[in-house]
Amino acid sequence: MTQQPSEITFKSIGRPDIGYISVAEYQDLIPFEIKRVYWTYFTPNHIIRGNHAHKSLKQIIVAVSGIIEFELEDKKGNITSYTLDSPEKGIFVPEGYWRTIKFSHNAVLLCLASESYKEDDYIRDYDEFKRIK
Ligand code: TYD
Repeated sequence: MTQQPSEITFKSIGRPDIGYISVAEYQDLIPFEIKRVYWTYFTPNHIIRGNHAHKSLKQIIVAVSGIIEFELEDKKGNITSYTLDSPEKGIFVPEGYWRTIKFSHNAVLLCLASESYKEDDYIRDYDEFKRIK
């Protein structure tokens, strides 16, 4: 069965006076083994990034700082928008979704990924994305 995107709420361990820690651990909230971690930062807020889909990569996305607007489109054209405005929030992004991403200037996007980097896993052409079954 095809997986659907979903929102995740991580536990916040701590208190306002000492600060917090959140944890992403395989099987507990993360439905794949993590092979790669990357983070993006200093994205100007007028820039739209993403503009691609993945053939098989699954990801968890967290805004560890700042605010990230993450939009997902499926093959049928259904669009879902997520506002990541807290380090407690994440989204699970399965393969096969076109994504566009906007950042506040201080945003840091953390990605936990199911595969190592492979350019041939990307679909960077929107028309091709719509065509591929
Ligand atoms: P890309 O995934 O296209 O970023 P975005 O969707 O945010 O625009 O990656 C941007 C560039 O970084 C591209 O040239 C590929 C390179 N890159 C790597 O070399 N390794 C990686 O793990 C990632 C995610 C990107």
